[in-house]
Amino acid sequence: MDITFLLNGETRRVAVTDPTQSVLDWLRAEGLSGTKEGCNEGDCGACSVLLTDGNGTKPLNACLMMMPHLQGKALRTVEGIAGPDGTLHPVQQAMIDHHGSQCGFCTPGFVVTMAGAHLNGARDHDDQLAGNLCRCTGYAPIIRAAKAAQSAPVPDWMRDHPVDLAEISLGDEQLAFLPRNSDDLAAWYLDHPDATLIAGATDVGLWVTKQLRNLDTVAFLGGCTDLQQIEETSNSFIIGAGVTIAALRKAMTTPHPSFAELLRRFASEQVRQAATIGGNIANGSPIGDSPPALIAMGAQLTLRRGDALRTIALEDFFLDYGKQDRAPGEFVQSVTIPKTAPGLACYKLSKRFDQDISAVCGCLNLTLKDRKIATARIAFGGMAATPKRAGALEDALIGQPLDETTLTAALPALEADFAPMSDMRASSAYRMQTAKAMVLRYGRAPSGQPSILEVQA
Ligand code: FAD
Ligand code: FES
Ligand code: FES
Repeated sequence: MDITFLLNGETRRVAVTDPTQSVLDWLRAEGLSGTKEGCNEGDCGACSVLLTDGNGTKPLNACLMMMPHLQGKALRTVEGIAGPDGTLHPVQQAMIDHHGSQCGFCTPGFVVTMAGAHLNGARDHDDQLAGNLCRCTGYAPIIRAAKAAQSAPVPDWMRDHPVDLAEISLGDEQLAFLPRNSDDLAAWYLDHPDATLIAGATDVGLWVTKQLRNLDTVAFLGGCTDLQQIEETSNSFIIGAGVTIAALRKAMTTPHPSFAELLRRFASEQVRQAATIGGNIANGSPIGDSPPALIAMGAQLTLRRGDALRTIALEDFFLDYGKQDRAPGEFVQSVTIPKTAPGLACYKLSKRFDQDISAVCGCLNLTLKDRKIATARIAFGGMAATPKRAGALEDALIGQPLDETTLTAALPALEADFAPMSDMRASSAYRMQTAKAMVLRYGRAPSGQPSILEVQA
């Protein structure tokens, strides 16, 4: 198959022979070796590149991106951050002025991510750079450089536009199917039920780079723009499966601030910009961050097989470890959540604040009537083989006043709900203890202390 995209402003048409080849490997084979391979699993940001599509420009990890992801988009690597005449980008100059680089292995990735944030006017530098690891310089000079450059005008050469695909054919789509909408996907998937669907590839990419798996028949969902919408009805949000975690985080900031804050803790900006909500649900992971929050909100999942749609409660989708209620040829179309859930609080416990998978994720959503708990939806990740509701705890709370006495008295119910496992992230006892702490924390007002996590430049 042939794909067409812009590379540092120049149109490229590339014959793809392996649709799961990473963009990182391709770039380095092309001699664009400024983009570094650190971890090859989305953790270090040394491979950061900028990708522009109809939704704007975003920083992404080239190690998790596969060649068909580039179709119709504009790719900018570290080689394209300075101007065509060699003029340094403001973030490059600031990195020099503020001594933001020593060994330089991480530096290209930092510069690319910083240039993306600069282009988008983002000033939450800690969050923007949480996916870029530096082990020599330290973050203070780098954050100082990002701040110093933030008000400089965006250089003209940085304004990329996606390619108009109207006239461009892919040629042979046997190697990989690139549907343009969910109808195309539904029809094709019925005929290819064993195919691997690839959305952001932040899970699937690792099957290739780390597990060295050969994926046979694949479809890339990124062209299904109809799956990338958030529809607002009078009482709900219908979130398409292709909505990225970054887009969802933005949309949830006002209606569901605690959920949005949980999504800030989801991986890094590069991963959030690629990862989709559909992938986070369909992978069935017991430690995915969105399912506990969505279940606590009472989310409904809509699945599509051919022309047939069905909607189920999200908690019923997760049958057992690695087993979901999804028929061959059926895909996740959308997830529906209420517009408001004022009683929702989400807690994520992980070894690192940023860029880490949860050891335990607890989400509680209680409503009160006449000062008593009227309804309770409580879900945990990391406590069982699937994301799961805490039914016994919910029963113990309903009808009681919401206070420390009630919460403390209800805690033993969690032991009826869960028997968590021990693994490298946490022991069983620690998981149980911290899950109980999350329940108690729900009843306590925030301390109002300033965050100790911010990097001070
Ligand atoms: P993909 O990798 O494309 O697909 C994942 C699975 O879902 C595959 O089985 C695929 O076939 C299937 N799939 C995708 N879309 C559909 C659909 N519409 N219908 C049916 N099946 C579908 N996850 C967290 O929850 N929290 C974290 O903090 C976190 N941190 C991470 C950090 C790093 C460095 C990395 C690499 C991953 C991290 N993840 C984390 C995991 C991953 O990012 C998420 O699970 C993500 O939501 C997957 O979405 P995706 O679009 O990339 O899915
Ligand atoms: Fe580390 Fe890609 S090489 S994130
Ligand atoms: Fe050495 Fe960043 S300067 S890792």
